Amino acid sequence: MKNYKTIILSNQEIAPGYCRMRILAPGYHKMASPGQFIMFRVQRSLPPLLRRPFGIFRIGCLPADCDGMPDKEYIEIIYKVVGSGTEIMQELHEGDRIELLGPLGRGFELGDPDEEKILVGGGIGLVPLFMLAEKLVETSRVRLLMGGRSREDIIAVTEFERLGVETYVSTEDGSLGEEGLVTQVLQRKLEKYPRASVFACGPMPMIDAVQKICAANKTPLQVSLEALMACGVGACLGCVVKGAGHSDAEPRYLCTCKHGPVFRAEQLDWNRLENQAADCGGCK
Ligand SMILES: Cc1cc2nc3c(=O)[nH]c(=O)nc-3n(C[C@H](O)[C@H](O)[C@H](O)COP(=O)(O)OP(=O)(O)OC[C@H]3O[C@@H](n4cnc5c(N)ncnc54)[C@H](O)[C@@H]3O)c2cc1C
Ligand code: FES
Repeated sequence: MKNYKTIILSNQEIAPGYCRMRILAPGYHKMASPGQFIMFRVQRSLPPLLRRPFGIFRIGCLPADCDGMPDKEYIEIIYKVVGSGTEIMQELHEGDRIELLGPLGRGFELGDPDEEKILVGGGIGLVPLFMLAEKLVETSRVRLLMGGRSREDIIAVTEFERLGVETYVSTEDGSLGEEGLVTQVLQRKLEKYPRASVFACGPMPMIDAVQKICAANKTPLQVSLEALMACGVGACLGCVVKGAGHSDAEPRYLCTCKHGPVFRAEQLDWNRLENQAADCGGCK
């Protein structure tokens, strides 16, 4: 993990309300694994005070500008503009300076290469699944179920397809792909591929539904959780969730930032998972 000042290489809107930012990030090829995240801090203004967490979409490299210079290693993040921090990020340009802390957290375990892999991504939850898909296609058959409210929430379909991933799109309003919830598609796929393992990232109601389906089918599941995060390194305890076997007498807390954000389903207490993130609204 490193904290460093770096620069933005590009920052563009890719769909209404969604932007893709490329950031110079030397060393990430060696350091980062699928499912890890970074904490991003805008340097030119004090507010927002806290860094903001974002999944790493992909890692790439541009050739050096001239002989003797190193290649430019970069990461890409894709973010949805939802509040003060992402509004400021949207205004940033090539060459602007930012502060990057990462790569952070525990990512996905790649599992048995012989197993079929089903990835389930809801909206911005598709972001950490790209690096995962890049790795998994090297050894396994990978299917990606992409879900969103509307067509704008379905990002990077072509890029996933270029990797050789079979993609299935569903939207709640039917504006792209099948009309309905991504979990309906999951249910059908698990009937067809009962020996698959599942990797999911998205909003909590989707994750919860995925867990119920996987538990009923005895399907191995890993989930990437989102929680409000202040420090990103296990110091503030703002992101704790209750682990399996938690009780008042024997509390078992897990930090989403340090022990996750990716957990095996059996590590978590699913009866108490919703509404656990502490909202530190006063210190943003
Ligand atoms: C490990 C991790 C990876 C993430 N990866 C991505 C990503 O790849 N792309 C992306 O767009 N977003 C991602 N997020 C969510 C992102 O961090 C928040 O959207 C961002 O911090 C919002 O900052 P803001 O100042 O614009 O909004 P704020 O003003 O802080 O909040 C605006 C609204 O968004 C809600 N919100 C803020 N943070 C979160 C959160 N962490 N989880 C759920 N709701 C939140 C708030 O409750 C509020 O309703 C990730 C979060 C985590 C924990
Ligand atoms: S964000 Fe501070 S402990 Fe996780």
